[in-house]
Amino acid sequence: MFCLSLLCLALVHSLSVSATVYDVQVGGANGTLAYSPEAIFAQPGDQVVFHFNPKNHTVTQSSFADPCGPKEGGLDSGFVPVATNTTDSLPTWTITVNDTQPIWVYCKQAANTPASHCGLGMVFAVNCGADGSPNSFSNFKSAALAVGASLSAAAATSTASSSESAVSTTWTAAYGNVTIPPAAEPTLVTETITLEASTWTTTYSSYPGSPAATPASLEGNVIKVTVGGSNQLVFDPPRISAEPRDIIMFEFQSKNHTVTQSSFDDPCRQLNANGTIGFDSGFHAVTDNATLPTWNITVNDTAPIWAYCRQKTPTSHCGAGMVFAINSNEQSARNFSAFQNLAEQLNGTASTSSSSSTAGESQTSVPASGTLSVGVSSAILTVVVAAALVSSLL
Ligand SMILES: *[C@@H]1O[C@H](CO)[C@@H](O)[C@H](O)[C@H]1NC(C)=O
Ligand SMILES: *[C@@H]1O[C@H](CO)[C@@H](O)[C@H](O)[C@H]1NC(C)=O
Ligand SMILES: *[C@@H]1O[C@H](CO)[C@@H](O)[C@H](O)[C@H]1NC(C)=O
Ligand SMILES: *[C@@H]1O[C@H](CO)[C@@H](O)[C@H](O)[C@H]1NC(C)=O
Ligand SMILES: *[C@@H]1O[C@H](CO)[C@@H](O)[C@H](O)[C@H]1NC(C)=O
Ligand SMILES: *[C@@H]1O[C@H](CO)[C@@H](O)[C@H](O)[C@H]1NC(C)=O
Ligand SMILES: *[C@@H]1O[C@H](CO)[C@@H](O)[C@H](O)[C@H]1NC(C)=O
Ligand SMILES: *[C@@H]1O[C@H](CO)[C@@H](O)[C@H](O)[C@H]1NC(C)=O
Ligand SMILES: *[C@@H]1O[C@H](CO)[C@@H](O)[C@H](O)[C@H]1NC(C)=O
Ligand SMILES: *[C@@H]1O[C@H](CO)[C@@H](O)[C@H](O)[C@H]1NC(C)=O
Ligand SMILES: *[C@@H]1O[C@H](CO)[C@@H](O)[C@H](O)[C@H]1NC(C)=O
Ligand SMILES: *[C@@H]1O[C@H](CO)[C@@H](O)[C@H](O)[C@H]1NC(C)=O
Repeated sequence: MFCLSLLCLALVHSLSVSATVYDVQVGGANGTLAYSPEAIFAQPGDQVVFHFNPKNHTVTQSSFADPCGPKEGGLDSGFVPVATNTTDSLPTWTITVNDTQPIWVYCKQAANTPASHCGLGMVFAVNCGADGSPNSFSNFKSAALAVGASLSAAAATSTASSSESAVSTTWTAAYGNVTIPPAAEPTLVTETITLEASTWTTTYSSYPGSPAATPASLEGNVIKVTVGGSNQLVFDPPRISAEPRDIIMFEFQSKNHTVTQSSFDDPCRQLNANGTIGFDSGFHAVTDNATLPTWNITVNDTAPIWAYCRQKTPTSHCGAGMVFAINSNEQSARNFSAFQNLAEQLNGTASTSSSSSTAGESQTSVPASGTLSVGVSSAILTVVVAAALVSSLL
């Protein structure tokens, strides 16, 4: 009897002081640069458990005034590297909310570079102001994105510093008098990679928005790309994201195509710069549907790779938009569709007098890129902190 009523008392008590535990995903399963959810409202005593997804993120406290800089004496999880494709037992880091003041958070990866995760919008807040108020979450995120934009602009102007002109942010394509956005400046990163009990150090060129240099597995994944499927002048998928060691297997399905490496500013000619000659599959004519030829390349770096089909008979396939990209930065002006537009502009109808406006197949073939499917997993658990109460009553 006594025990029962004590239990009831403890339970009644616990309801009024129960702490809520908020789960927040840090980054997405496929490398999304975001916290999910992006903002929560919590009471003193509540806990926030951060779950670190693949890549190498942090949970670092900043301030509204300086969204991408550390707050003096603020909280910081430090870097938490997680191998690609890890989905189970993600590392976690927990904070306790002590009051109702806002807590501003960002990921400090690649700080002060155009690849800054914070500058790309990877920010989070506890108890931010309501929508429409000066310290709302959207104002905080806008401020972080503005930091990113100015970092990119600074990198672009320092790259193009040779030309003093104010319009130094656009360059001209190799031919055709078309202005194109400048190249992003890569940063040389030396990283120790641990994967399946192997550890090694790698130095690679990291580009803004490029995937981590951590291979998906020791052998790499095989990613299949069809060439000329359904008799169309397309690579499918037209752009992919790949990690070092991944094998891209091109399967030729129709006609007589190639996979040839080019560069962003010269999309329809084989790369040949400073002694680097781009890869080329050679022509693969499909004569028999039973044995489709394949041709493979191995990805060595996370730098963007641009490619096209160099068939020109009867019309330029590249000019019809038959181009392909690996690790293009979709957050930049040098994204896949910009590359495809440039190919069409330089080698398309403008260059071949024949009005072969090939049914605009290129526009339709581009898939909705980078769908940010952030799993809204704000599973809210209630933790009963009755133990202490029970013991104090006893
Ligand atoms: C809450 O207080 C504890 C104990 O002083 C401290 O460790 C923790 O960092 C504080 N939480 C926040 C969000 O500042
Ligand atoms: C390139 O384009 C600009 C602006 O459209 C034009 O003024 C210029 O004459 C063109 N140059 C050549 C070589 O066609
Ligand atoms: C994580 O990122 C930090 C900062 O860029 C770097 O120093 C560290 O080596 C990275 N760790 C791994 C395992 O990639
Ligand atoms: C990693 O994810 C990709 C895409 O979901 C999948 O194809 C691949 O098999 C995964 N690799 C490993 C080692 O699990
Ligand atoms: C080729 O070399 C020149 C001069 O060293 C350099 O400015 C340019 O960026 C290089 N191009 C490539 C694609 O590496
Ligand atoms: C494939 O195309 C190339 C270039 O147009 C041509 O030289 C070659 O003969 C073609 N091959 C076949 C089997 O049609
Ligand atoms: C291959 O299959 C497609 C569709 O099934 C057909 O249109 C085409 O004629 C076939 N090509 C050859 C060479 O058999
Ligand atoms: C490409 O790689 C796949 C998977 O490793 C393999 O099955 C295929 O035979 C390779 N193709 C060529 C032409 O080497
Ligand atoms: C990766 O390196 C290998 C060996 O050096 C080379 O054959 C291959 O072409 C490289 N891959 C790319 C995409 O450049
Ligand atoms: C694209 O046009 C350039 C310049 O006219 C030409 O040199 C190149 O061969 C063309 N490439 C293709 C694939 O049409
Ligand atoms: C991607 O390229 C298209 C076409 O040039 C351009 O309109 C768009 O603004 C680019 N996206 C970004 C994020 O810059
Ligand atoms: C991320 O993964 C989800 C499902 O795992 C997928 O639907 C989505 O297309 C992926 N997004 C990107 C940008 O790869």
